[in-house]
Amino acid sequence: MRLQPASAVDLVLEEADIFDWDADGRVFDTIIFSAWLHHVPHDRFDEFWSLVEGLLAPGGVVVFDFLDATVPSPGKVEVADEPSGGYTFHAPSDGVSIRDLDGHRWRVVHVLWAPDELRARLLGRGWEVAVLGPGLLSNMRWAAAHR
Ligand SMILES: C[S@@+](CC[C@H](N)C(=O)[O-])C[C@H]1O[C@@H](n2cnc3c(N)ncnc32)[C@H](O)[C@@H]1O
Repeated sequence: MRLQPASAVDLVLEEADIFDWDADGRVFDTIIFSAWLHHVPHDRFDEFWSLVEGLLAPGGVVVFDFLDATVPSPGKVEVADEPSGGYTFHAPSDGVSIRDLDGHRWRVVHVLWAPDELRARLLGRGWEVAVLGPGLLSNMRWAAAHR
């Protein structure tokens, strides 16, 4: 197989809210998202995967990572009274975690998926999912999905 030089690949960077993004009818052979699925709230999961389905070309594959609910999270369990100076995340649980950055504190959508539960949920939507192996953090897993 001969790889195309990078200059021959038509790369386009677009910044958008994925839930509002107009792909202008384009579909893609490969869709990759990383450190993202855990920010999709439970009640938008189906909406998100409908979007992905509409963006994937026939025979395409989706590669993504997710936070494995069966593995302890690396975040701190206790929530300090005051926001920390650097970056810290506390009380990671299914649904929300608390993040501190430079003295500011906010809540972040933080969804955990047991691999079997995620696989079954996506199977119910017509996806076959293979959990591939460890991801960036100790509780992250890579996965690949196709229809
Ligand atoms: C944890 S970061 C991961 C960034 C990158 N994928 C990486 O691995 O470094 C999550 C990213 O999702 C982006 N994000 C949050 N809500 C989004 C939305 N509705 N549409 C598109 N991006 C969004 C945030 O701006 C942030 O850059």
